[in-house]
Amino acid sequence: MKGIILAGGAGSRLYPLTLVASKQLQPVYDKPMVYYPLTVLLASNIREICLISTPHDLPRFRQLLGDGSAWGVSIEYREQANPEGIAQAFLIAESFIAGERVALILGDNIFSGGDAFPRAVAEFHGGATVFAYHVHDPQRYGVVEFDAAGRAISLEEKPAQPKSNYAVPGVYLYDEHVVARTRALRPSARGELEITDLNKTYLAVGQLQVIRLSRGFAWLDAGTSTSLHEASSYVQTIEKRQGVKIGCPEEAALRRGFLQLPAFDALVAKMPNCEYRDYLLSVAAEIRRVGLEQA
Ligand code: G1P
Repeated sequence: MKGIILAGGAGSRLYPLTLVASKQLQPVYDKPMVYYPLTVLLASNIREICLISTPHDLPRFRQLLGDGSAWGVSIEYREQANPEGIAQAFLIAESFIAGERVALILGDNIFSGGDAFPRAVAEFHGGATVFAYHVHDPQRYGVVEFDAAGRAISLEEKPAQPKSNYAVPGVYLYDEHVVARTRALRPSARGELEITDLNKTYLAVGQLQVIRLSRGFAWLDAGTSTSLHEASSYVQTIEKRQGVKIGCPEEAALRRGFLQLPAFDALVAKMPNCEYRDYLLSVAAEIRRVGLEQA
């Protein structure tokens, strides 16, 4: 499966932070926001990646992530000239997708905990897979309603009267028909190709799998100054307590076998002295000591 990171948008709710760097380049505690969704893809065994952003911001992402070869993956870039909806990503990235299955992750979605995504990618068998996460403010999101048997029966984008507390986070898995299905969509009232409308086409034909994310799982919002600060605090708390990092692409690449230890060492050696480097050194040392499975 291939992977797309959509990192567009004006980030107006983070003004003035976003005057010079886009939302997905802002720090979430100790690393740029886009590292978190990127790491989700790598940890899910996805190593062919396409990042989509605005013409203005794309050069910065290139500068930050390069072609991915340092991490044993490939990263391509495509421009979203106008913000015309999340589903537009599939039209923009059509040549990258090249008729294969694809995961889409939004560049501002931060996740921590569990193995729901790697498992869903490994077990994906066609149609589309989305996730559901219990939140207190579902009206801000795509909302999924379940029947008594736990089957998804409706999807609505930002409903004023949500039918459940289950929001759909910004990670989606699609079969090879996603481009054709997107092409058949009509823009919504706000002029966008809505990801929820795309998902509804799969639901309508009984091909939408909805996986509920468990309570222990964290899905964090970082779209406002307050939530960005809270996300940073959360990441810091977990990282300090556990001594493991969330959203560390180098580590995910090493653990997935995209990078071998010597290449990992060489990568770390090029970094300046900093806490991030110290962490990566400790990861390599632990793996050498107890092996990849135990570390
Ligand atoms: C978008 C989607 C929404 C989804 C959310 C997840 O909303 O339209 O369905 O629940 O991402 O972050 P937006 O970020 O455009 O408000």
